Amino acid sequence: MSEWTLVCAIADLPEGGWKVVEVDGAMLAVLLVAGEYYAIEDICTHDGGQLTGGELQGCELICPRHGARFCIKTGAALTPPAYEAVDTFPVILKDGNIWTRDDRWD
Ligand code: FES
Repeated sequence: MSEWTLVCAIADLPEGGWKVVEVDGAMLAVLLVAGEYYAIEDICTHDGGQLTGGELQGCELICPRHGARFCIKTGAALTPPAYEAVDTFPVILKDGNIWTRDDRWD
């Protein structure tokens, strides 16, 4: 089973913000929206662009390259030119910190 990876202190991730952490070679973005924490892979399924840095509208993250929208709750691609979902990951809060793990190969 994959190990939990430290993202940052809870206090260091503001509402509407994100932190990116490398987990076993993958870049995972942890976001805080409306008091809930979500983690997605920070790679657009359209053409491999970095998703963080794109505009966040509620629970939709807009790829800054060509404008595809993704649901950060489910990873679903909501609009073209992306059609495949991004992977999502578990998040826990423990000891004042935020943790995530890449559980795709557990
Ligand atoms: S790389 Fe994200 S929409 Fe094209």
